[in-house]
Amino acid sequence: MATMKAVRIHEYGAPEVLKYEDAPRPEPGPGEVLIRVHAAGVNPVDWKVRAGYAKDRLKYAMPFIPGWDVSGVVESTGSGATRLKKGDEVYSRPDISRDGSYAEYIVVKESEVALKPKSIDHVHAAAIPLAALTAWQALFDAGKLSAGQTVLIHGAAGGVGSFAVQFAKLKGARVIGTASKKNHEFLRSLGADETIDYNTTKFEDVVRDVDVVLDTITGETADRSWQVIKKGGIYVSILMPPSQEKAAAHGVRCAHTFVQPSVEQLNEIAKLVDSGKLKLTIEKVFPLAEARAAQESNAIGHTRGKIVLRVV
Ligand SMILES: NC(=O)c1ccc[n+]([C@@H]2O[C@H](COP(=O)([O-])OP(=O)(O)OC[C@H]3O[C@@H](n4cnc5c(N)ncnc54)[C@H](OP(=O)(O)O)[C@@H]3O)[C@@H](O)[C@H]2O)c1
Repeated sequence: MATMKAVRIHEYGAPEVLKYEDAPRPEPGPGEVLIRVHAAGVNPVDWKVRAGYAKDRLKYAMPFIPGWDVSGVVESTGSGATRLKKGDEVYSRPDISRDGSYAEYIVVKESEVALKPKSIDHVHAAAIPLAALTAWQALFDAGKLSAGQTVLIHGAAGGVGSFAVQFAKLKGARVIGTASKKNHEFLRSLGADETIDYNTTKFEDVVRDVDVVLDTITGETADRSWQVIKKGGIYVSILMPPSQEKAAAHGVRCAHTFVQPSVEQLNEIAKLVDSGKLKLTIEKVFPLAEARAAQESNAIGHTRGKIVLRVV
């Protein structure tokens, strides 16, 4: 059996359970493509899954490979996969219930794979799919954000937030972002109109009547958000499903989104990158073998933009 290098876990637990080792090289089945991974994005879900937080919902057969952001090159295609061909440079947010991208190869459903932006390398492309799709779907599919509206983005300097600020601005919305002071210049460079230092200012003291809140933080941030939304506006969480009762009590709506694959949206996002409208911020690149350090760094909770694993 052909093998490849991969980072796998054999049991849930602390970062030490991540093992850089030989693993079977997968083969594409019907409707699937085999991608030679060049880079893999690191997201909070990676270490949450590793720690076992999602084990009641997602049933992984051990050992499994984490990582659900990939940029690479199509190596081969399974039967019926006809849109893509060997050599295509692609990116994807692969199915989260299957083996991920912390590996030299990954099999992905062709329906989840788009051509990567042409103007950037694989390390930058791998930073995009999961966080950018999340931001896009939360703002536009759930929040229906439109030009002229105001959006408050909690966690604006992170992976999801840094895309959300830019998407909202490109849409023509007024953007308010929360982050610690050190990230305010960064948020302005992404297009934020106003910045709030969550360490020194209660956002509810300075924000009123927003149309949309995008919450990537939750907890007490969620509880304090209801009062800043105008009647009929919407609170969108990408973490805990919000309380319908609390929303109703404030005369607002609420939604919870979990990122879905979308080639159409990845194509739109690639166009924005290639036309120079979307900035990509990568805080640090680690080699695949150092996936543990990459996850530990992300889990601190203060990543600016994204962390990426370089595989090739
Ligand atoms: N539902 C979904 O489909 C989905 C998809 C993607 C992510 N998520 C979840 O959404 C969350 C965010 O993901 P992410 O990739 O954006 O994470 P991330 O990149 O790790 O977020 C880090 C950012 O959070 C900021 N931050 C920390 N505490 C804050 C606070 N109290 N107020 C405002 N900003 C704060 C930090 O800014 P400072 O350094 O300035 O503090 C940092 O820039 C994670 O829990 C993730 O699991 C859900």
